[in-house]
Amino acid sequence: MKALVLAGGSGTRLRPFSHSMPKQLFPVAGKPVLLHCLENIRQAGIREVGLVVGGRHEEIRAAVAACGLDLSITYIPQAAPLGLAHCVLIARQFLADEDFVMYLGDNVLAEGIADLAERFRACPAQAQITVTKVANPQEYGVAEVDHDGRVMRLTEKPRTPATDLAVIGVYFLTPAVHEAVRRVQPSARGELEITDVLQDLVTQGADVRAEVFSGYWKDTGSIEDVLDCNRVLLDAIPTANLGAVDGTSQVTGPVVVEAGARILNSRVVGPVTIGAETVIVDSEIGPYVSVGARCRLGRAGITDSIVLDDARVHDVRELRGSIVGRSAEVTSSGTTRRRVILGDHSSMRIP
Ligand code: DAU
Repeated sequence: MKALVLAGGSGTRLRPFSHSMPKQLFPVAGKPVLLHCLENIRQAGIREVGLVVGGRHEEIRAAVAACGLDLSITYIPQAAPLGLAHCVLIARQFLADEDFVMYLGDNVLAEGIADLAERFRACPAQAQITVTKVANPQEYGVAEVDHDGRVMRLTEKPRTPATDLAVIGVYFLTPAVHEAVRRVQPSARGELEITDVLQDLVTQGADVRAEVFSGYWKDTGSIEDVLDCNRVLLDAIPTANLGAVDGTSQVTGPVVVEAGARILNSRVVGPVTIGAETVIVDSEIGPYVSVGARCRLGRAGITDSIVLDDARVHDVRELRGSIVGRSAEVTSSGTTRRRVILGDHSSMRIP
Protein backbone atom coordinates (compact mmCIF):
# COMPACT_ATOMS: atom_id res chain seq x y z
CA MET A 1 0.00 0.00 0.00
CA LYS A 2 1.16 3.53 -0.82
CA ALA A 3 0.23 6.81 0.89
CA LEU A 4 -0.95 10.06 -0.68
CA VAL A 5 -0.50 12.95 1.74
CA LEU A 6 -2.16 16.29 1.01
CA ALA A 7 -0.20 19.36 2.01
CA GLY A 8 -1.36 21.93 -0.54
CA GLY A 9 -4.42 24.13 -0.10
CA SER A 10 -4.68 27.56 1.47
CA GLY A 11 -5.66 27.12 5.16
CA THR A 12 -7.12 30.56 5.80
CA ARG A 13 -8.77 29.55 9.11
CA LEU A 14 -5.47 29.39 10.95
CA ARG A 15 -4.88 33.12 10.59
CA PRO A 16 -2.63 34.95 11.34
CA PHE A 17 -0.22 31.99 11.04
CA SER A 18 -1.49 30.78 7.66
CA HIS A 19 -0.24 34.06 6.16
CA SER A 20 3.33 33.09 6.87
CA MET A 21 3.46 29.28 6.90
CA PRO A 22 1.61 26.33 5.37
CA LYS A 23 -0.90 25.16 8.00
CA GLN A 24 0.48 21.62 7.79
CA LEU A 25 3.75 22.93 9.24
CA PHE A 26 2.18 24.39 12.37
CA PRO A 27 4.01 22.78 15.31
CA VAL A 28 2.16 20.76 17.95
CA ALA A 29 4.01 18.89 20.70
CA GLY A 30 7.34 19.95 19.24
CA LYS A 31 6.88 19.07 15.57
CA PRO A 32 4.79 20.07 12.58
CA VAL A 33 1.37 18.45 12.18
CA LEU A 34 2.58 17.03 8.84
CA LEU A 35 5.43 15.15 10.53
CA HIS A 36 3.03 13.54 13.02
CA CYS A 37 1.07 12.42 9.97
CA LEU A 38 4.16 10.99 8.20
CA GLU A 39 5.16 9.17 11.41
CA ASN A 40 1.69 7.59 11.57
CA ILE A 41 2.11 6.42 7.97
CA ARG A 42 5.52 4.87 8.70
CA GLN A 43 4.10 3.14 11.81
CA ALA A 44 1.40 1.60 9.61
CA GLY A 45 4.18 -0.08 7.61
CA ILE A 46 3.94 2.18 4.56
CA ARG A 47 7.15 3.56 2.98
CA GLU A 48 6.15 5.03 -0.38
CA VAL A 49 4.54 8.44 0.01
CA GLY A 50 3.28 10.87 -2.63
CA LEU A 51 3.19 14.33 -1.07
CA VAL A 52 0.91 16.86 -2.79
CA VAL A 53 2.28 20.38 -2.34
CA GLY A 54 1.10 23.80 -3.46
CA GLY A 55 2.70 27.24 -3.57
CA ARG A 56 4.62 26.78 -0.31
CA HIS A 57 6.38 23.58 -1.33
CA GLU A 58 9.88 24.81 -0.44
CA GLU A 59 9.13 25.12 3.29
CA ILE A 60 7.42 21.74 3.26
CA ARG A 61 10.35 20.07 1.48
CA ALA A 62 12.78 21.60 4.01
CA ALA A 63 10.74 20.41 7.02
CA VAL A 64 10.36 16.89 5.62
CA ALA A 65 14.06 16.67 4.71
CA ALA A 66 15.00 17.69 8.26
CA CYS A 67 12.87 15.01 9.93
CA GLY A 68 14.95 12.05 8.71
CA LEU A 69 12.05 9.57 8.51
CA ASP A 70 12.67 6.35 6.61
CA LEU A 71 10.22 7.15 3.80
CA SER A 72 10.51 7.36 0.04
CA ILE A 73 8.80 10.65 -0.85
CA THR A 74 7.64 11.72 -4.30
CA TYR A 75 6.57 15.38 -4.44
CA ILE A 76 3.47 16.02 -6.53
CA PRO A 77 3.00 19.73 -7.30
CA GLN A 78 -0.58 21.02 -7.45
CA ALA A 79 -0.86 24.32 -9.35
CA ALA A 80 -4.03 25.40 -7.50
CA PRO A 81 -6.14 23.94 -4.66
CA LEU A 82 -8.75 22.36 -6.90
CA GLY A 83 -9.95 19.78 -4.40
CA LEU A 84 -9.04 16.57 -2.61
CA ALA A 85 -10.10 14.41 -5.55
CA HIS A 86 -8.03 16.63 -7.86
CA CYS A 87 -5.04 15.48 -5.80
CA VAL A 88 -5.89 11.86 -6.62
CA LEU A 89 -6.16 12.84 -10.29
CA ILE A 90 -2.71 14.43 -10.46
CA ALA A 91 -1.16 11.59 -8.44
CA ARG A 92 -2.38 8.95 -10.92
CA GLN A 93 1.11 8.07 -12.19
CA PHE A 94 2.60 7.83 -8.69
CA LEU A 95 -0.30 5.70 -7.42
CA ALA A 96 -0.22 3.35 -10.43
CA ASP A 97 -2.60 0.44 -9.78
CA GLU A 98 -1.98 0.04 -6.07
CA ASP A 99 -4.21 0.50 -3.05
CA PHE A 100 -3.38 3.63 -1.08
CA VAL A 101 -4.28 5.64 1.98
CA MET A 102 -5.07 9.28 1.34
CA TYR A 103 -4.17 11.26 4.46
CA LEU A 104 -4.99 14.96 4.84
CA GLY A 105 -1.83 16.67 6.08
CA ASP A 106 -3.70 18.86 8.59
CA ASN A 107 -5.44 15.98 10.38
CA VAL A 108 -4.13 14.67 13.70
CA LEU A 109 -4.97 11.14 14.88
CA ALA A 110 -3.20 10.71 18.22
CA GLU A 111 -3.37 6.89 18.17
CA GLY A 112 -2.10 6.68 14.58
CA ILE A 113 -3.56 4.76 11.63
CA ALA A 114 -1.95 1.31 12.01
CA ASP A 115 -5.19 -0.32 13.26
CA LEU A 116 -7.24 1.25 10.47
CA ALA A 117 -4.71 0.06 7.87
CA GLU A 118 -4.80 -3.42 9.36
CA ARG A 119 -8.60 -3.55 9.11
CA PHE A 120 -8.43 -2.47 5.45
CA ARG A 121 -5.76 -5.07 4.67
CA ALA A 122 -7.78 -7.80 6.44
CA CYS A 123 -11.11 -7.00 4.85
CA PRO A 124 -10.56 -5.06 1.65
CA ALA A 125 -13.49 -3.09 0.26
CA GLN A 126 -13.35 -0.77 -2.76
CA ALA A 127 -12.93 2.06 -0.28
CA GLN A 128 -12.72 2.38 3.51
CA ILE A 129 -13.45 5.70 5.11
CA THR A 130 -12.96 6.62 8.75
CA VAL A 131 -15.74 8.25 10.76
CA THR A 132 -16.23 9.61 14.23
CA LYS A 133 -19.09 11.21 16.17
CA VAL A 134 -18.83 15.01 16.40
CA ALA A 135 -20.95 17.82 17.80
CA ASN A 136 -20.64 19.93 14.61
CA PRO A 137 -21.07 17.56 11.64
CA GLN A 138 -22.06 20.39 9.29
CA GLU A 139 -18.36 21.39 9.19
CA TYR A 140 -17.27 18.06 7.67
CA GLY A 141 -18.13 15.37 5.20
CA VAL A 142 -21.03 13.46 6.80
CA ALA A 143 -21.67 9.71 6.43
CA GLU A 144 -24.83 7.62 6.65
CA VAL A 145 -23.81 4.07 7.52
CA ASP A 146 -25.86 0.85 7.89
CA HIS A 147 -25.61 -1.71 10.73
CA ASP A 148 -22.85 -3.62 8.94
CA GLY A 149 -20.64 -0.56 8.48
CA ARG A 150 -21.57 -0.11 4.82
CA VAL A 151 -21.73 3.48 3.65
CA MET A 152 -25.17 4.40 2.28
CA ARG A 153 -24.68 8.10 1.60
CA LEU A 154 -22.06 10.83 1.91
CA THR A 155 -22.61 14.59 1.92
CA GLU A 156 -19.99 17.34 2.07
CA LYS A 157 -20.65 19.94 4.80
CA PRO A 158 -24.45 19.62 4.73
CA ARG A 159 -26.55 22.40 6.31
CA THR A 160 -28.77 19.84 8.00
CA PRO A 161 -26.64 16.74 8.61
CA ALA A 162 -28.43 13.37 8.51
CA THR A 163 -26.07 11.92 11.15
CA ASP A 164 -23.37 13.09 13.55
CA LEU A 165 -20.72 10.95 11.84
CA ALA A 166 -17.95 13.14 10.44
CA VAL A 167 -15.58 11.80 7.81
CA ILE A 168 -11.98 11.93 9.11
CA GLY A 169 -9.20 12.79 6.66
CA VAL A 170 -7.86 9.24 6.30
CA TYR A 171 -9.28 7.35 3.32
CA PHE A 172 -8.22 3.84 2.25
CA LEU A 173 -8.76 3.59 -1.49
CA THR A 174 -8.32 1.07 -4.31
CA PRO A 175 -7.74 1.72 -8.03
CA ALA A 176 -11.56 1.76 -8.42
CA VAL A 177 -11.36 5.38 -7.27
CA HIS A 178 -9.63 6.56 -10.47
CA GLU A 179 -12.62 5.98 -12.73
CA ALA A 180 -14.94 7.62 -10.20
CA VAL A 181 -12.67 10.70 -10.06
CA ARG A 182 -13.08 11.09 -13.80
CA ARG A 183 -16.88 10.86 -13.50
CA VAL A 184 -17.46 13.66 -10.93
CA GLN A 185 -17.83 17.40 -11.60
CA PRO A 186 -16.49 20.24 -9.43
CA SER A 187 -18.75 21.20 -6.49
CA ALA A 188 -20.38 24.58 -5.80
CA ARG A 189 -17.10 25.69 -4.11
CA GLY A 190 -15.29 24.83 -7.36
CA GLU A 191 -13.45 21.78 -6.00
CA LEU A 192 -13.35 18.16 -7.07
CA GLU A 193 -14.62 16.68 -3.79
CA ILE A 194 -13.46 13.28 -2.55
CA THR A 195 -16.87 13.04 -0.84
CA ASP A 196 -18.58 13.21 -4.26
CA VAL A 197 -16.18 10.60 -5.62
CA LEU A 198 -16.97 8.22 -2.76
CA GLN A 199 -20.71 8.91 -3.18
CA ASP A 200 -20.28 8.04 -6.87
CA LEU A 201 -18.73 4.70 -5.87
CA VAL A 202 -21.66 4.05 -3.50
CA THR A 203 -24.13 4.90 -6.28
CA GLN A 204 -22.33 2.49 -8.63
CA GLY A 205 -22.89 -0.26 -6.04
CA ALA A 206 -19.27 -0.47 -4.84
CA ASP A 207 -18.49 -1.74 -1.34
CA VAL A 208 -17.58 1.41 0.61
CA ARG A 209 -17.01 0.72 4.30
CA ALA A 210 -16.84 3.01 7.31
CA GLU A 211 -14.56 2.28 10.25
CA VAL A 212 -15.43 4.12 13.43
CA PHE A 213 -12.44 5.86 15.00
CA SER A 214 -12.80 6.15 18.74
CA GLY A 215 -9.46 7.78 19.51
CA TYR A 216 -8.49 11.44 19.47
CA TRP A 217 -8.90 13.20 16.11
CA LYS A 218 -8.65 16.85 15.10
CA ASP A 219 -8.69 18.70 11.81
CA THR A 220 -6.29 21.45 12.90
CA GLY A 221 -8.30 24.27 11.38
CA SER A 222 -8.30 26.81 14.19
CA ILE A 223 -6.16 28.19 17.00
CA GLU A 224 -8.28 26.36 19.61
CA ASP A 225 -7.79 23.11 17.68
CA VAL A 226 -4.00 23.36 17.63
CA LEU A 227 -3.85 24.16 21.34
CA ASP A 228 -6.10 21.18 22.04
CA CYS A 229 -3.91 18.90 19.88
CA ASN A 230 -0.84 20.23 21.61
CA ARG A 231 -2.21 19.17 25.01
CA VAL A 232 -3.23 15.70 23.83
CA LEU A 233 -0.01 14.90 21.94
CA LEU A 234 2.15 16.27 24.76
CA ASP A 235 0.50 13.76 27.10
CA ALA A 236 2.26 10.99 25.15
CA ILE A 237 5.82 12.37 24.95
CA PRO A 238 8.74 10.55 26.53
CA THR A 239 11.37 12.23 28.69
CA ALA A 240 14.59 13.03 26.82
CA ASN A 241 17.31 15.48 27.71
CA LEU A 242 19.81 16.29 24.98
CA GLY A 243 20.43 19.80 26.29
CA ALA A 244 21.73 21.27 29.55
CA VAL A 245 19.89 21.90 32.81
CA ASP A 246 21.81 23.85 35.47
CA GLY A 247 21.89 22.97 39.17
CA THR A 248 19.43 25.66 40.22
CA SER A 249 16.75 24.49 37.80
CA GLN A 250 14.06 21.90 38.46
CA VAL A 251 12.62 19.72 35.69
CA THR A 252 9.70 17.39 36.52
CA GLY A 253 7.33 15.23 34.46
CA PRO A 254 7.84 14.29 30.82
CA VAL A 255 10.06 16.94 29.25
CA VAL A 256 11.96 16.78 25.94
CA VAL A 257 14.96 19.09 25.83
CA GLU A 258 16.50 19.16 22.34
CA ALA A 259 20.22 19.44 21.61
CA GLY A 260 21.88 22.71 22.51
CA ALA A 261 18.95 23.96 24.62
CA ARG A 262 19.81 25.40 28.06
CA ILE A 263 17.62 25.73 31.14
CA LEU A 264 19.01 28.13 33.72
CA ASN A 265 17.56 28.89 37.15
CA SER A 266 14.09 27.82 35.96
CA ARG A 267 11.29 25.41 36.77
CA VAL A 268 9.90 23.24 33.98
CA VAL A 269 6.82 21.11 34.70
CA GLY A 270 6.04 18.56 31.96
CA PRO A 271 4.66 17.73 29.62
CA VAL A 272 6.83 20.25 27.81
CA THR A 273 9.01 20.18 24.68
CA ILE A 274 11.92 22.59 24.32
CA GLY A 275 13.46 23.02 20.88
CA ALA A 276 17.13 22.99 19.92
CA GLU A 277 19.32 25.94 20.99
CA THR A 278 16.53 27.53 23.05
CA VAL A 279 17.60 29.30 26.24
CA ILE A 280 15.26 29.56 29.25
CA VAL A 281 16.35 31.76 32.16
CA ASP A 282 14.61 32.58 35.48
CA SER A 283 11.32 31.19 34.18
CA GLU A 284 8.46 28.82 35.01
CA ILE A 285 7.38 26.79 32.00
CA GLY A 286 4.58 24.21 31.81
CA PRO A 287 2.60 22.15 31.94
CA TYR A 288 1.45 21.73 28.32
CA VAL A 289 3.92 24.00 26.58
CA SER A 290 5.78 23.46 23.29
CA VAL A 291 8.71 25.79 22.77
CA GLY A 292 10.34 25.90 19.33
CA ALA A 293 14.01 26.12 18.39
CA ARG A 294 16.30 29.09 19.15
CA CYS A 295 13.79 30.83 21.46
CA ARG A 296 14.79 33.12 24.34
CA LEU A 297 12.56 33.03 27.43
CA GLY A 298 13.54 35.21 30.37
CA ARG A 299 11.56 35.79 33.59
CA ALA A 300 8.64 34.16 31.78
CA GLY A 301 5.74 32.14 33.15
CA ILE A 302 4.02 30.08 30.43
CA THR A 303 1.39 27.32 30.61
CA ASP A 304 -0.80 25.64 27.97
CA SER A 305 0.83 27.43 25.02
CA ILE A 306 2.89 27.09 21.86
CA VAL A 307 5.95 29.26 21.30
CA LEU A 308 7.26 29.00 17.74
CA ASP A 309 10.88 29.06 16.53
CA ASP A 310 13.05 32.11 17.25
CA ALA A 311 10.43 33.78 19.48
CA ARG A 312 11.26 35.84 22.58
CA VAL A 313 9.22 36.18 25.77
CA HIS A 314 10.49 38.42 28.54
CA ASP A 315 9.00 39.54 31.86
CA VAL A 316 5.59 38.03 31.13
CA ARG A 317 4.60 36.08 34.20
CA GLU A 318 1.31 34.40 33.36
CA LEU A 319 0.96 33.63 29.70
CA ARG A 320 -1.57 30.85 29.06
CA GLY A 321 -3.65 29.50 26.16
CA SER A 322 -1.29 31.48 23.93
CA ILE A 323 0.58 31.16 20.66
CA VAL A 324 3.67 33.25 20.06
CA GLY A 325 4.62 33.24 16.36
CA ARG A 326 8.01 32.71 14.74
CA SER A 327 10.51 35.46 15.58
CA ALA A 328 7.78 37.29 17.54
CA GLU A 329 8.48 39.05 20.81
CA VAL A 330 6.30 39.52 23.91
CA THR A 331 7.39 41.70 26.81
CA SER A 332 5.55 43.12 29.80
CA SER A 333 6.01 45.18 32.92
CA GLY A 334 2.93 43.82 34.71
CA THR A 335 1.97 40.47 36.21
CA THR A 336 -1.62 39.99 35.06
CA ARG A 337 -2.76 36.80 33.34
CA ARG A 338 -2.63 37.11 29.58
CA ARG A 339 -3.80 35.28 26.54
CA VAL A 340 -1.86 36.22 23.44
CA ILE A 341 -2.11 35.08 19.83
CA LEU A 342 0.81 36.83 18.18
CA GLY A 343 1.62 36.25 14.50
CA ASP A 344 5.11 35.65 13.10
CA HIS A 345 7.61 38.54 13.19
CA SER A 346 5.34 40.67 15.44
CA SER A 347 6.09 42.28 18.76
CA MET A 348 3.88 43.16 21.70
CA ARG A 349 4.55 44.99 24.96
CA ILE A 350 1.91 44.35 27.60
CA PRO A 351 1.58 47.47 29.79
O1 DAU B 1 -10.73 17.03 7.98
C1 DAU B 1 -11.73 16.22 7.48
C2 DAU B 1 -12.48 16.92 6.35
O2 DAU B 1 -11.50 17.24 5.33
C3 DAU B 1 -13.58 16.02 5.79
O3 DAU B 1 -14.60 15.80 6.74
C4 DAU B 1 -14.20 16.66 4.55
O4 DAU B 1 -15.14 15.79 3.99
C5 DAU B 1 -13.10 16.95 3.52
O5 DAU B 1 -13.63 17.60 2.37
C6 DAU B 1 -12.01 17.83 4.13
O6 DAU B 1 -12.60 19.10 4.39
P1 DAU B 1 -11.77 20.44 4.58
O7 DAU B 1 -12.60 21.59 4.10
O8 DAU B 1 -11.30 20.51 5.99
O9 DAU B 1 -10.53 20.27 3.61
P2 DAU B 1 -9.35 21.30 3.40
O10 DAU B 1 -9.67 22.22 2.29
O11 DAU B 1 -8.96 21.90 4.73
O12 DAU B 1 -8.15 20.37 2.91
C7 DAU B 1 -7.68 19.27 3.65
C8 DAU B 1 -6.17 19.08 3.39
O13 DAU B 1 -5.90 18.86 2.01
C9 DAU B 1 -5.30 20.25 3.80
O14 DAU B 1 -4.09 19.74 4.34
C10 DAU B 1 -5.03 20.99 2.51
C11 DAU B 1 -5.01 19.86 1.50
N1 DAU B 1 -5.48 20.25 0.16
C12 DAU B 1 -6.75 20.75 0.02
C13 DAU B 1 -7.26 21.09 -1.22
C14 DAU B 1 -8.66 21.62 -1.38
C15 DAU B 1 -4.67 20.06 -0.94
O15 DAU B 1 -3.52 19.60 -0.80
N2 DAU B 1 -5.15 20.39 -2.17
C16 DAU B 1 -6.42 20.90 -2.37
O16 DAU B 1 -6.81 21.15 -3.54
